[in-house]
Amino acid sequence: MDKYLIEGGPRLAGTVRASGAKNSALKLMAAAVMAEDACLIHNVPDIMDVRIMMDVLAYIGMGVTFSGGDLEITPATAPRLEAPYHLVQKMRAAVEVLGPLIARHGRARVAMPGGCNIGARQVDMHMKGLALMGARMGVSHGYIEAEADGLSGTHLYLDFASMGATENIMMAAVLADGVTVVENAAKEPEIADLAAFLSGMGARIEGAGTSTIEIEGSRTLSGVEHTVIGDRIEVGTLLLAAAITRGEVLVEGADPGHLEIFIEKMREAGCEMRADGRGISVSVPREVTGVEISTLPYPGFPTDLQPQTLAVLATAQGTSFITENIFDNRFMVVDELNRLGASIKTNDHHAIVRGVPRLSGAPVSATDLRAGAALVLAGLSAEGTTEVYDIGHIDRGYERFEEKLASLGAKIERVPSEA
Ligand code: EPU
Repeated sequence: MDKYLIEGGPRLAGTVRASGAKNSALKLMAAAVMAEDACLIHNVPDIMDVRIMMDVLAYIGMGVTFSGGDLEITPATAPRLEAPYHLVQKMRAAVEVLGPLIARHGRARVAMPGGCNIGARQVDMHMKGLALMGARMGVSHGYIEAEADGLSGTHLYLDFASMGATENIMMAAVLADGVTVVENAAKEPEIADLAAFLSGMGARIEGAGTSTIEIEGSRTLSGVEHTVIGDRIEVGTLLLAAAITRGEVLVEGADPGHLEIFIEKMREAGCEMRADGRGISVSVPREVTGVEISTLPYPGFPTDLQPQTLAVLATAQGTSFITENIFDNRFMVVDELNRLGASIKTNDHHAIVRGVPRLSGAPVSATDLRAGAALVLAGLSAEGTTEVYDIGHIDRGYERFEEKLASLGAKIERVPSEA
């Protein structure tokens, strides 16, 4: 894998634009499996995960053309109703074709997603929801196998507001017979974006973005043209990059309504935050100060910004307390941050961060996407050179990350693995 070479120090300044949301685009692509004709999706980020989902759709037999952020997906003439292990193993979100395949074609075979660097990530709720709609679900030889002679609407409660389960069930329900009600549904903006996409295809959905979603099944779905919402996690990451260098940056392409608690926490930490029609800006007039943060499902503080926030708080004045409530292994970045001179202790799902005046550059390795971003941020502020290895993890979810940071004044360079 490539690595980054970062010279820490420069204060980031200027304006940068966020790309379309990874965690929306991937689900819209899965939903396109159900369309009778072509779907055209704009503002799709050119990242590895999108490329893997393109491979999943191509494996199924769909036509996929991607250029300049525009993705066209056409239906398969003789679909292969399967998401194979070699693709699901690279990206768990491939499991999101399960609901669409059963709903549209009555059958699906999807490799069971395995472990993941940020912790156990089950799919039991996805399977339970689909079973309640009448699908016969089983697991055999490492594959989820599902069959249905037509799905029927149901009323179900999720044990946890899981994004993936909400999406898989919502997608299956749009072609089910009758009404489906999902209670304790995930409320993320990406769920509302998926519902808008499905509605454009002719689905009838109410309440997406709230904890109760009601879906009235339709017989067929047409193609749709849709623009993906801005990536709130990329926006947050770029704002945190500015904050760790005590810089001043405006991020365009952001909906401030998607990051309310994050913006509030940044203010509490001493950052000056402004949000308007252009986007969100940050500047750090004095110092960053320690805060308390607990990750929670949306609209709570996003787990996908926790490692990057941890990096910033590592250089704050005072002590911070972080609680991670979503994933059981999302403090893997701590050992690497400590190699850069941070003072962070963890106990189970809590971290205590004692701020230090300056981090010091060192070689470190990305263990997953957000941990990788956190290490880049740390490197931007560290004294001397930081080498971030295994940045393939970062390429999964950030489009032109180093280019965007360099445009704000960062000294960051990609070194290809063979060099
Ligand atoms: N869970 C279950 N059973 C299920 C489903 C989930 O126990 O059937 C548990 C998981 O084990 C986990 C928690 O519920 O502990 C959260 O899982 P959720 O289903 O909400 O997450 P996801 O859909 O797998 C998406 C994002 C993640 C993001 C989480 C939480 C995508 C492709 N991934 O994952 O994004 O952290 O929601 O918001 O949308 C990232 O972008 O870096 C990333 C990891």
